[in-house]
Amino acid sequence: PRAGSTTLPVLALDQGTSSTKALVICPERGVIGTGSAPAPPRYGSGGMVEVDPAVLLRSVLDAGHQALADAGEPVAAVGLANQGETVLAWDPGTGTPLTDAIVWQDRRAEPLCAELAPHDDRLRQLTGLPLDPYFAAPKMAWIRRELTREGAVTTSDSWLIHQLTGAFVTDAGTAGRTQLLDLDRVDWSPEALDIFGLSGEALPRIVDAAGPVGTTSAFGAEIPLTGLLVDQQAALLAQDVTEPGSAKCTYGTGAFLLAQTGGLPRRGTSGLVSCVAWRLDGHTSYCLDGQVYTAASAVRWLTDLGVISGAADLDTVGSSVPDSGGVTFVPALAGLAAPWWRGDLRGSITGLGLDTGPGQLVRALCEGIAAQVVELADAVATELGTPLTSLRVDGGLTRSALLMQTQADLLQRPVEVSALPDVTALGVGALARLGLDPAQSLRQVIPEWKPAAVYEPRIGADEAAERLDVFRAEVAALLDRTPPP
Ligand code: G3P
Repeated sequence: PRAGSTTLPVLALDQGTSSTKALVICPERGVIGTGSAPAPPRYGSGGMVEVDPAVLLRSVLDAGHQALADAGEPVAAVGLANQGETVLAWDPGTGTPLTDAIVWQDRRAEPLCAELAPHDDRLRQLTGLPLDPYFAAPKMAWIRRELTREGAVTTSDSWLIHQLTGAFVTDAGTAGRTQLLDLDRVDWSPEALDIFGLSGEALPRIVDAAGPVGTTSAFGAEIPLTGLLVDQQAALLAQDVTEPGSAKCTYGTGAFLLAQTGGLPRRGTSGLVSCVAWRLDGHTSYCLDGQVYTAASAVRWLTDLGVISGAADLDTVGSSVPDSGGVTFVPALAGLAAPWWRGDLRGSITGLGLDTGPGQLVRALCEGIAAQVVELADAVATELGTPLTSLRVDGGLTRSALLMQTQADLLQRPVEVSALPDVTALGVGALARLGLDPAQSLRQVIPEWKPAAVYEPRIGADEAAERLDVFRAEVAALLDRTPPP
């Protein structure tokens, strides 16, 4: 980089499940430009969720150009955060996609996972992840079986980075979401590759989250790509949750609760995922991770049914009634992840009456999302041996006061909403800056954390426990009537 370039802004891109967001971030003035472009997936039968790779790339370019035009200033580097477990096959010679991108929510590798079930314990030990179509490797193996044997099959970050710079890499955090990474060595596991029938595949080089991996002219002048990290971990970095007893939850397409565990992986017994947070300068930090597969996508589902006209409606419609009127919604529309790991389950709505209206359904949905997050928070507390003191939250759905209040009520802890929008992009922006100037420390580049709002619990512990019990009983009933595949 040129002398003085570390004071120039950086372009931070967050390539998520339904859109790409872009920020131009200046060290002194904060966010000086924003952009956003849609990249909607297609949903089909059998749990299909796909997106055209060209749409992903176009959204990255459009959002980036918009943010740069908005800022009106040159940038010194670019950082890219990516949706974690979305995969595609592509030709590493030409970069041409050979399949659509199979999105992390896609469930079509379910039968393949059932076949590999005898390897579940070993895979958990090796990679920290339970066998589930959510992760990249089952989808990579499914592509090999069902779609093509040609080219390389990788997570979407590797393809996008190749399009931008020509490099063939992935960061250690994204590699940790594949179920092919040896969690202790932070390198591809020949044994896991063999289990999935992926031995001999061309695999991207695993790189640190900060440091130059190549240059791109996709946004005008040639600039280096110096920050790379899977999106949830990028949000964890920017939420700056380093104290024991603290965790973050991002309410996006899904909701993801992560807590740092330091320099050693912690293989738990509570059903959470143990994975790489990030690798910097060759040093790996680890985290525990729990997932709610459908948060904003459950809101989208209610919207598509015409119950509400969008996420902005949650509070107006939900506040029109005092409670959920006895309706319980388990929004397992793409199955349940941690701590149950029953991706094959589907959602349920019970307790419907002639008087049930949109307001009750909205409240039941908020309660269903929040109750799952409580299960994850409880699992984290069990693993860490210390109760959570608070929860830092971000993501589009944190704009719903109803959801956030419900979360604080059921969690019985304060819920602190980040004042910084687009935390994921800020996280990867910080990494891009660190990659540009390794003399800086991580602490120097992380934006100062401020809450925009803090929701305190407004109900007592007994009422919270009762409401959680109702939700848990509904999940138990679902589990009872759906034998594992
Ligand atoms: O694990 C899936 C996650 O990476 C997707 O995040 O923000 O696109 O919902 P998001």
